[in-house]
Amino acid sequence: MKSLTSLLTKKVEEAFEKCGYSKELASVTVSDRPDLCQFQCNGALGGAKLYHKAPRMIAEDVVKVLSDDKELAKVEIAGAGFINIDISDEMLLGYINEVFDDVNIGVPQAEKEETIVLDYGGPNVAKPLHIGHLRAAVIGEALKRLVRATGRKAIADVHLGDWGLQMGLVMAELEVRHPDWEVFSDRFDAESFEGSIPLTADELNEVYPFASAKSKEDESFKARAKELTVELQNGEPRYTAIWKEIVKISVNDIKKNYDDLNVDFDYWYGESNADKYVPELLEALEKKDLMYESEGAMVVDVAKEDDKITVPPVIVKKSDGSSIYATTDLATIVQREKDFKPDGIWYVVDQRQSLHFTQVFRCAKKAEITDAGLEHLGFGTMNGADGKPYKTRDGGVMRLSLLFDTVYDAAMERVKESKFSAEEDKADVARKIAVATIKFGDLINHRAKDYIFDLDKFMAADGKTGSFLLYTVARVNSILKKVDEEKITAAASVFTDSERDLLLKIALSGEAYALAFKERAPNIVCENAYQLAQSFSKFYHDNHILTEEDEQKKNAWLRACVVLRKVIEKHLDILGIESVELM
Ligand code: ARG
Repeated sequence: MKSLTSLLTKKVEEAFEKCGYSKELASVTVSDRPDLCQFQCNGALGGAKLYHKAPRMIAEDVVKVLSDDKELAKVEIAGAGFINIDISDEMLLGYINEVFDDVNIGVPQAEKEETIVLDYGGPNVAKPLHIGHLRAAVIGEALKRLVRATGRKAIADVHLGDWGLQMGLVMAELEVRHPDWEVFSDRFDAESFEGSIPLTADELNEVYPFASAKSKEDESFKARAKELTVELQNGEPRYTAIWKEIVKISVNDIKKNYDDLNVDFDYWYGESNADKYVPELLEALEKKDLMYESEGAMVVDVAKEDDKITVPPVIVKKSDGSSIYATTDLATIVQREKDFKPDGIWYVVDQRQSLHFTQVFRCAKKAEITDAGLEHLGFGTMNGADGKPYKTRDGGVMRLSLLFDTVYDAAMERVKESKFSAEEDKADVARKIAVATIKFGDLINHRAKDYIFDLDKFMAADGKTGSFLLYTVARVNSILKKVDEEKITAAASVFTDSERDLLLKIALSGEAYALAFKERAPNIVCENAYQLAQSFSKFYHDNHILTEEDEQKKNAWLRACVVLRKVIEKHLDILGIESVELM
C-alpha cells in the first residue's frame, strides 16, 4: 500500500495542477513542527521564481482548492508560504484499517522487481567468531529482512573466509600434532578416504591462534603453511580432503553462534567457491587490457584524478600465483552475476575495509563484469567503556559466544524473578531478551558509528532498548488477554489526543521503512519502533482502557492496541528480534 505522504502528495499535486501550477512542486512531507501540524508542503516557495508570484499567493490558490477536501481536517498557510496540513480522523482511521488488513502491514512495496545479494557475516573458517563479527551479522540480517519486507528479493551469502593463509597455518599445525592421522600418512588414498578426521571444534578453535603465533617466530613453519595454502589452492587431494573436514567442523560451530542470534543465510559459499571464476575474471581484465606487471604481481590501476586519498592499484595475482582477497571478491562478483543476476550487491563489512572495496568496485566496473550497484555498507566498532574495542576482562579478544552468554545470564537473572513466565519457558524468554538486548543496542546506532557496549544501559526496562519494546508488546498482550479479542471491531470513535498521536505514529511507520531502505539504515526502524512504544506508553497512561465504560470508546482503544502490536512486531521482525508473550 501507499505511504500516507504519497497519498497526500497526490492530493496536493492535483490541487497545484488545478490552479495551473506544476505538480512537480507538490511534494508533501511529515511536518518538521509536529506541534503545528501533521504534514507540510513547501511547494509554493519553489513556485515563486517559476511564476513570478509571491509564494503566499500561490499557497492561497492551492489551499482554496484543498479546503474542499473532506479528508483534510486543516489546510493553512504559514510563514512565507508553507502549506500546513492535518488529516481528518476519518482518513487516519481508514488508513489504519488498511494497515491492519495489509499483508505487508503497511510497508511500502517496491515498484519493480529487484534482487539484492547481501554479503555479510564474513566469518573465517577455523577462527571462532568474536565480537568483531557481531555487527556484520546483526546489521546484515536486519538489512536482508528490510529488503524482503519491501517486496524485493534478498539473497544472503555468508562469504566464508575459507581460502587464505589461515587454512595453511591450521593444516601445518595439525600435521605436526597428528602425523598419525590417515590424511597425513602414507596410507592416505584420495579415492578411498571416507572423509573424517578426529578433530573437535574446541581443538580447532585453539589451533589457529596457536599456529598464527608460532608462524611469527618459526620461519620454516611459516614457509610450510604458505606451501600448504598453495597446495590447497592447486587442488591437491590430500589437503583438499583435510580442508573439507576443517570447513565442515568449523561451519557447524559458526552456525550455532548465528542460530543463537536468529541470523541465517541462504548460501554458505566461501572464498573457495570463487576460485573457479578467477580465469574468467582474468580474461575480462585481459580483454580490456587493464592488467600490467608490477614487482612480479599483476595489478590494475583504479585511481581517479579527483581522489582525495591515494587509491593504489589492486593486485589481482601475486608473484607466487596465489589469489588474494581482492581477486576473490572480484571473482565472487563474476559468480554472483552468473548465478543471481543481481541489481545490487551490498557488502556489510567493517568500515576499515573501505579502501579494499573502493578498489574492488572500481576494478569490477572497469572490467564490466557486472551492472549491479555495488555498495559497501560499512560499520563502526563496538567499544568497551574505555572507548577501545570491546575486550575480555584480561584484555583478550571477546568471543561472540561469551558475549552472548554474558547477556543471556543477565537476562535470566531478570526472568527468574518474573512472575509471568512459566518455568519451562524461562530459558526461551531469556534467550529472546538477550537477542533483543544485543541487537537493539547495536542497531539503534547508525551503522557507520562506533558505539559503547553497556550492558546495564542496553538492558534497561525503558529508554531505547530491546527490553522496552518487548515489554510494550507484552503489555499489550496482557491487556488483550483480559478481553475477547475476536469481538474487537474496526468501529470509529472520537479520538482522544494520545489516541490520535498513537494512530498517526502507526500510520507514519510506512515513511520510516521507506527511508530506512533508501538509506540502508536499520537504525531508522529502531527509532520508529521506539517512538511507537513511547506513544503507546502515553496512550496507555492517558486512557483507562479496561475500565472504560463507554463500550464504543473501549472498543476503539482495544483496536488501537491490536494494530500497534501488529506494527511493532513488524518492526521487530525486520530487526531480527522475536517478541515474548509476557514479561
Ligand atoms: N572474512 C573477511 C574478514 O574477516 C570479511 C569478508 C567480508 N566480505 C567480503 N566480501 N570481503 O575480514
